[in-house]
Amino acid sequence: MEKKNIDWANLGFGYIETEKRFVSNFKDGSWDDGELTSNSMVTITECAGVLQYAQTCFEGLKAYTTEDGHIVTFRPDLNAERMANSCRRLEMPVFPEERFVDAVVKTIEANEAYVPPYGSGATLYIRPNMFGTNAVIGVKPADEYQFRIFTTPVGPYFKGGVKPLTIRVSDFDRAAPHGTGHIKAGLNYAMSLYAIMDAHRQGFDENMYLDPGTRTKVEETGGANFLFVTKDNKIVTPKSGSILPSITRRSLITVAKDYLGLEVEEREVLFEEVPEFVECGLCGTAAVISPVGKINDHGREICFASGMTEMGPVTKKLYETLTGIQMGRLQAPEGWIKVIK
Ligand SMILES: Cc1ncc(COP(=O)(O)O)c(C=O)c1O
Repeated sequence: MEKKNIDWANLGFGYIETEKRFVSNFKDGSWDDGELTSNSMVTITECAGVLQYAQTCFEGLKAYTTEDGHIVTFRPDLNAERMANSCRRLEMPVFPEERFVDAVVKTIEANEAYVPPYGSGATLYIRPNMFGTNAVIGVKPADEYQFRIFTTPVGPYFKGGVKPLTIRVSDFDRAAPHGTGHIKAGLNYAMSLYAIMDAHRQGFDENMYLDPGTRTKVEETGGANFLFVTKDNKIVTPKSGSILPSITRRSLITVAKDYLGLEVEEREVLFEEVPEFVECGLCGTAAVISPVGKINDHGREICFASGMTEMGPVTKKLYETLTGIQMGRLQAPEGWIKVIK
């Protein structure tokens, strides 16, 4: 299979249309067989449930080439499970989890020419998504849905080297207590757009959201979970019912315990404890871990010992171990790597 002529190392994170996408429609109470299609356009009524009442959710994962030349993806079964949970919370029909994984595999196979080569740092980003398609005017769930998986090649996250982030404590919330913060609903991201643009206007890379109920506990950013390191090399990560259960964070917990022999605490993290930590990272599919150098709390700066020029030593070990597992340089736990080819 001849690869597309793309300058992989200089790709950004933007949409580039690829050849095929998977589409399945839900009607009269069941999903059709689904198919791969070249048509990237969606035509729906102006009154579609997704357009009126934001009935949509999505997932994000990557395919890449390993050191020994295989095309693989990472733990797609967990994306399937999380999407099923998102659907249930939004009164949408679940696309069966095994069919989800199978459709991810088929979509990657069909777009093999866009899977970047090993060593380029680039990956093929996979975006499963679902939305209500039939006309809905009274506030209620749609009866018809479309499930789609498209792909787009994306560039290396740390282009030009790692640069620790400066983030701020947000005065806006991204989730409500007992709301939808724990699922990947489009509405959560609409909520965060003003906050992230405002953060950028003020010179910050990201928002640290605190718990919406009391604003005393650390939650997450708009697109990643937090992971902290204590002075004695313990990993601490916030536990909350209103954060998205990051697949990267859950994988890093296993890596910390089973590969690095580190102690891990998943618990409520008070914001007032944060200055005691020595390293801070954001975990998600995009970067695996991006280091945070500084947190600005309304003018008061919390600077981590790891500094503003590189990843802290524990963050770096976590990063290198998980990316080593993903790229096939280290033995993966059973079931983590789905080989496409
Ligand atoms: C709000 C939020 N938190 C955390 C994550 C990280 O999750 P994952 O590691 O599954 O990509 C994401 C990205 O998907 C996200 O959007």
